[in-house]
Amino acid sequence: MAIERTLSIIKPDAVAKNVIGKIYQRFEDAGLKIVAAKMVWLSEKEAAAFYAVHKERPFFNDLVRFMTSGPVMVQVLEGENAIAKNRELMGATDPKKAAPGTIRADFAESIDANAVHGSDGPDTARTEIAFFFPEMAIYSR
Ligand code: TYD
Repeated sequence: MAIERTLSIIKPDAVAKNVIGKIYQRFEDAGLKIVAAKMVWLSEKEAAAFYAVHKERPFFNDLVRFMTSGPVMVQVLEGENAIAKNRELMGATDPKKAAPGTIRADFAESIDANAVHGSDGPDTARTEIAFFFPEMAIYSR
């Protein structure tokens, strides 16, 4: 299986809940390595640019407001099948529909404050990683 990289964000609700470490543990237990990480407080402009694909969706303004409501923890995860593996660990977008034991089932409040982001495919992963990290800031072993 291919070694992939994916972008993960621990959103403001989960950072405020003080569960960064618990979420990191799940990545590591699943065999995903954290090869880059930083805490950032996104501006409205940055959050809107990151979520540009959702620009026309009714929830866009609320999403930007939420993503700028506090600091987020952003990381690049690397490992076999990292993109799908991270999506599996995250669970469904709506925590009410997320499988038991997933990050969203355990830590998310609602569909809008849903604890984590993860790239949904190879193209988005590349774009999203480049949005936050230059190649030289990713420490792959
Ligand atoms: P989406 O890309 O559909 O989900 P995922 O994060 O699981 O890839 O949506 C992006 C974010 O937009 C989602 O994490 C939370 C927010 N959102 C809402 O607030 N309401 C909604 O109805 C949807 C679909 C998403």
